Amino acid sequence: MSVVPANIESASLTTGSAEHRRLLGQFFLDTHVEYVPERTQWPELTQEELARMQSLPFWQEAVSTENVTSNTVAAAATLESDPIVRKAIELQGFEEMRHARLLVELASHYRITIESPPRFTPSSLESDFLFAGFGECFDSFFAFGLFALARESGLFPPGLVKVFEPVMQEEARHILFFVNWVAYRRSQLPWWRRPAFGLRCAWIILKQVASRVRTARALTRPQAPGSSENFTLTAHQDLGVADVTLHGLLELCLTENDRRLAEYDARLKRPRLVPGIARVVFRLIPTSM
Ligand SMILES: [Fe+2]
Ligand SMILES: [Fe+2]
Repeated sequence: MSVVPANIESASLTTGSAEHRRLLGQFFLDTHVEYVPERTQWPELTQEELARMQSLPFWQEAVSTENVTSNTVAAAATLESDPIVRKAIELQGFEEMRHARLLVELASHYRITIESPPRFTPSSLESDFLFAGFGECFDSFFAFGLFALARESGLFPPGLVKVFEPVMQEEARHILFFVNWVAYRRSQLPWWRRPAFGLRCAWIILKQVASRVRTARALTRPQAPGSSENFTLTAHQDLGVADVTLHGLLELCLTENDRRLAEYDARLKRPRLVPGIARVVFRLIPTSM
């Protein structure tokens, strides 16, 4: 594992350099963890824990999201001519599909009804990869905090926390890889194409923000049964910890985000947009909110 303490390694790395490209791909390949979802030792749950698991409404949405992401990412590997970066993207596609397989295994073990989604075919390799990647930057940030909340409150039994811990850490690797890939990709374009690429990224980010604002607004209205779009935003209610304040949740998300990313080479760029927005909101809102 190329784990370098964040404050030791020099942060000097030229974006788009051969060293950046090598580090980008190699860090991802080196930190891959082997596990087989079909061999998971699922923990025994109490009746209460089982009923709570079965009542969570987001399993279907989670499997569908992983299915779309895995097919999008796997297809995007062909965008890359560098063998290491290409292999890293292929590996991410494999890991996303493994998340879907793990959720299917969980559903089957705990008798949760979900349907296998049809294979997703991306319409545009690069735009779909960008859309999926920026979406993960939002979802993973909130998922880190929610996972910690579920773990610390005991709502997720320790056995399940153990099973899903590698998934959370993989999502941290994915967003770290993605933000560096975007910076690398942009740097490889001729100068006159960079503004259009930047605008396309900004448009995709806006679409992702708009989607989450819609979800946040919907939270103030009675939720439609089975509605679980952007489920990382609504999961704190589903997990039965609705009494946590937004302020407290953001603090946990920020702490967990920093903790999970601190494991990796400090020369790699860190996701800044979502933690930056969260930090501003965290400072502006009252602690009671
Ligand atoms: Fe995933
Ligand atoms: Fe991911």
